[in-house]
Amino acid sequence: MEKIVILTGAGISAESGLGTFRDEGGLWAQHRIEDVATPEGFARNPALVHGFYNARRGQAAKAQPNAAHQALARLQKNWPGEVILVTQNVDGLHEAGGAEPVIHMHGTLAGALCGACGHRWASPPEMEVGEPCPACQQPTARPDVVWFGEMPYFMDEIYDHLIEATLFASIGTSGQVYPAAGFVQEARAVGAKTVELNLEPSAGGSIFDEVHLGPASEVVPRWVDTLLAGNGAR
Ligand code: OAD
Repeated sequence: MEKIVILTGAGISAESGLGTFRDEGGLWAQHRIEDVATPEGFARNPALVHGFYNARRGQAAKAQPNAAHQALARLQKNWPGEVILVTQNVDGLHEAGGAEPVIHMHGTLAGALCGACGHRWASPPEMEVGEPCPACQQPTARPDVVWFGEMPYFMDEIYDHLIEATLFASIGTSGQVYPAAGFVQEARAVGAKTVELNLEPSAGGSIFDEVHLGPASEVVPRWVDTLLAGNGAR
């Protein structure tokens, strides 16, 4: 039975109105990574970091899933084998589009994490500096997102899936951030077919067996339809 592992990035949510990081005018053109997406930045200026994620949480709450999110949910429901959906995105648009389960390797804006005891709870719409952890009462609440210099979540689980993959697809990600950028090599090493769906070829684009260029809302539903038609699973 075919096992599909899919990795998504900011490009899949672009047409839902959420900014990507490295495209022209993207988030990393407006903010310094070391200020808003590192543990050191948070230690230096927690108000700035909370402000950055509060704004992103507000935008994500207003955003609607697009045809690409919905197509992947359809694939998960109708594919006769497993479809493992791994996202680098911290928005909840895959779930809003009907996908389940979703592996959030870079965490989620919906979560709060205690920097002292590791307790997790649902984030309020706006997090504030010094908010106490409900478990240990320390004023160390932070967004439950993975910052540069931290280990992404669920890595063992993801590698376990990758070694069983027969098809690997990378969607809307620039392929510049590891370990996610290395998943295609892992999948190739076990003989999986590799496909990229992206607006422009990514950093490692030439390594993929197949590349479909265009906006996610167009190329992803088309790719999903082809897969499902090929399996008589529609
Ligand atoms: P990037 O901003 O690096 O890349 C976005 C990709 O999406 C690019 O390859 C674009 O060509 C593509 N793209 C843009 N619009 C698109 C559209 N409408 N349809 C399809 N593709 C489109 O974002 P990521 O690769 O997700 O990590 O970034 C990876 C990680 O770097 C993020 O999770 C974040 C960031 O720093 C952390 O904050 C830890």
